[in-house]
Amino acid sequence: MAVILPEVSRTLNEYLLVPNLTTEDCAPDAVDLSAPLVRHPIGQPSPLRIATPLVSAIMQAVSSPRLAIALAQTGGLGFAHQNQPIAAQARMVSAVKRHKAGFRHSDINTKPTATLGEVSRLLQAAERDIAVVTDDGSPTGLFVGLIGSRDFHPQRHDLNDTVASRMRPADTLVTAPPTISLSDANTLIWDQRLDLLPIVTADGHLASIVLRRDYELHKQFRNETIDAEKRFRIGAGINTRDFRDRIPALVEAGADVLCIDSSDGYSVWQQRTLRYAVEELGGVVPVGAGNVVDGRAFRYLADAGAAFVKVGIGGGSICITRDQKGIGRGQASALIDVAAERDRYAEETGVYVPICCDGGLLADYHMAVAFALGADFIMLGRYFARFDESPSNLVKLDGQLFKEYWGEGSQRARNVARYDQGETELPFEEGVDGYVPYAGSLYPNVARTVAKLRATMVSCGATTLPDFHRDAVLVQVSQQSYLQNGAEVRLRSGSSSTGQ
Ligand code: IMP
Repeated sequence: MAVILPEVSRTLNEYLLVPNLTTEDCAPDAVDLSAPLVRHPIGQPSPLRIATPLVSAIMQAVSSPRLAIALAQTGGLGFAHQNQPIAAQARMVSAVKRHKAGFRHSDINTKPTATLGEVSRLLQAAERDIAVVTDDGSPTGLFVGLIGSRDFHPQRHDLNDTVASRMRPADTLVTAPPTISLSDANTLIWDQRLDLLPIVTADGHLASIVLRRDYELHKQFRNETIDAEKRFRIGAGINTRDFRDRIPALVEAGADVLCIDSSDGYSVWQQRTLRYAVEELGGVVPVGAGNVVDGRAFRYLADAGAAFVKVGIGGGSICITRDQKGIGRGQASALIDVAAERDRYAEETGVYVPICCDGGLLADYHMAVAFALGADFIMLGRYFARFDESPSNLVKLDGQLFKEYWGEGSQRARNVARYDQGETELPFEEGVDGYVPYAGSLYPNVARTVAKLRATMVSCGATTLPDFHRDAVLVQVSQQSYLQNGAEVRLRSGSSSTGQ
C-alpha cells in the first residue's frame, strides 16, 4: 500500500512567530543575516557566504546582469538562467564578472561620431544618465569625453548632431590613473562634485569608472557579494542534459556557483550531474541541486555531492505543478522535514549542506518564518520580477504599472530541460504567464525587507540565523485567526493593508 504521511501539508502562511526575550545586545544593527551558500565542514566557514541571504530565481523573467549586479551590491546573489544557449548564458555571467565593486567596467559607451539621437536611445534603454565617449565607442578605447542627459535635450538640440558637438571633452574633466585607491577616488568624487570618475591609463585609454551611486550603496549595504579580486559574484543554472558542455563554459566565464534547475530534483539525472561536477571536474565550482520536499531526497543529493539543496515544489507564484501533476508539498512542511535531515546529516558526517527555500513567499514575513523553520537562504522569483532591474517589460494596465512575469514551465519560457516532459516540447504547461505589480528599484525594497527581517529576529531574541534556527518558537494559526486578521479597515491611502 502507498505510504500516507501522518502530517498535513502546511504552507508558510500557517505559522506565526512567538516573541522570545529581547535583551540589550539584541538590536537591529547587531543582527548578522549572513549565511553559508555552500557545503562546509562543521566548525569551518563556508567557502562562499552571502551577507544578505536572498538569491534570485533561475528564470528568464528574473535573471539579468543588471539584477545580478544590484543584488550583489546589496549582499545577495543573482543566478543567470539556463533556458538559453550556453554561449548566451556565459555572456550573461561575464557581463557581471567584468565589473569590480567600486571600479566598474564601463558598459554604456559611445563614440564622437555617433548622433545625439543614438546616444539618447542608448541612455534610455540602459536607464542611465551618462555615457562615456571613447574614440571607437569601446570600453577600453581612447577616452574622449562624457555625454549625458544634462548635456543635450531632444527638444532643444538637433538629434542628428554628433556627440562631439555636445559632449564634455576629456581635457575639461577630472580623471584619475588606475593606481588610485578606491577611497581616494571617492574623495575626488565628493571634492569635485562628480557623478562619474573616469579612470584613464597613462596612454589615454579608459580603464574603468567609479560611480558616486556605488559609494552611496556601499555605505548603505556595506557587504557586497564579491570574489577575491573584488568582482561581483554570480551564480548560474545548469540542467541534467547538456551539463558536460555547459559547466565548463560557465566556469570559464567566471561563474562562482552553479545550481541544477529542475522542478523535481530527486532523480538519478541530478546524481549523475553532481558526480560529474565533483568527480570528473574535481569540484572546480560548487553545484547546488533540487528541488526537493523531503529528507530522503535531501540525503540523496547531499550524498551525491550537492553544494546546497533547494527546497520547494508547487509553491511558486506562477506554478501550476500541483494542479497539473498532483506533486508537491506545503513549503513549511517541506522545510521542517528537510531541515531536520540536514541537521542529522551534519551530525553524522560532520558536513553542513545549506538549504535554500525556493518559491511561494508572498509576504516579507514568510521569509522570517522560512528562516525560523531552518532555511539558510531564500530564492525569490516574483519578488525580484517586480523591480526595475529585472529584464521584463514594464506595462500599464487599467492605469496601473506592472512588470511581466512568467513561469519557466509556461509556453512562453518553454524550459524543456527544467521540466523534462519530452525532448523538445512541453506537452502541458506547469507555469503561467502574467503580470506582477511594479515596485520600483531593487535597492530600497531589499533594504526594507532586510529591516523587517532584522526587526523580527530582534523580537525573537536572535542576532544570527543559526540562533534563529535553534531558538525560534512558532505556532500554527487557526482559521479564526485568519478571520480576525481579515477584519476590514478601509485605508486612508486607498492601498491594501496586506502584501508587500
Ligand atoms: P516565486 O518566488 O513564488 O515567484 O517562485 C519562484 C520559483 O518558482 C522559482 O525559483 C522556481 O523554483 C519555481 N518556478 C519557476 N517557474 C515555474 C513554473 O513555470 N512552474 C512551477 N514553478 C516554477
